[in-house]
Amino acid sequence: MESVMATASSKPTLVVGARGSVGRRVLFELLDRQSPVRVSARRPEPGQFPTGIDVFAADLTDPKSLAPAFDGAGQVFLYANHEGVHGVIAAARAADVERIVLMSSGSVIHPSSRGNAITEEHREVEEVFRAASDLTVVPIRPLVLATNAVRFLDDAAAGDSPATDTVEGILGRPACGFDVWAADHAADFAVS
Ligand SMILES: NC(=O)c1ccc[n+]([C@@H]2O[C@H](COP(=O)([O-])OP(=O)(O)OC[C@H]3O[C@@H](n4cnc5c(N)ncnc54)[C@H](OP(=O)(O)O)[C@@H]3O)[C@@H](O)[C@H]2O)c1
Repeated sequence: MESVMATASSKPTLVVGARGSVGRRVLFELLDRQSPVRVSARRPEPGQFPTGIDVFAADLTDPKSLAPAFDGAGQVFLYANHEGVHGVIAAARAADVERIVLMSSGSVIHPSSRGNAITEEHREVEEVFRAASDLTVVPIRPLVLATNAVRFLDDAAAGDSPATDTVEGILGRPACGFDVWAADHAADFAVS
């Protein structure tokens, strides 16, 4: 990630979703390197980011909100958002952004992940960006974010497993717990 985000441009890097677990690390890495940086969040609030950084309210699903954040940015660290990808492309073109670093997923090149809803969304986002061949887009494709797993472990140890609506939003049914998942998949582990 460090080398991908390194740039000779004097223009600031826009870190979209700079409160996210990866976005936050990208932000602090760039600050450590004294690279010019600006951030966006959908609903930024005072005190969420280090002082002295330009903060923009930008929602990837709202094209109008993107122009102020993109205008003047040299490169953009971007979370993949299926709904907003065409608006992002338009904003990047209008602002003449030099490079987009797209937070994708290693699952897009993993044959066993074909058909998985999250994988397919990432794949589609990458394809739309690939078709915008006038833009330079670098997909980052991690398979597992260990930092997230560690956070879940801490939460579980504290008896405080967070319930989010991400799975329900994508699959239309609530996420199941490990006990249900294990029962559903027990046959997969049977030794014949
Ligand atoms: N977990 C894994 O092992 C794994 C592996 C490979 C790939 N991935 C991919 O990594 C990504 C998750 O990364 P993460 O853990 O850093 O996520 P995270 O901590 O949940 O942060 C997500 C960020 O996305 C921003 N965001 C969400 N919707 C947005 C919108 N409509 N407009 C603008 N910003 C928006 C949020 O910004 P605000 O809320 O501040 O606006 C937030 O900062 C997912 O795409 C996932 O598929 C995860």
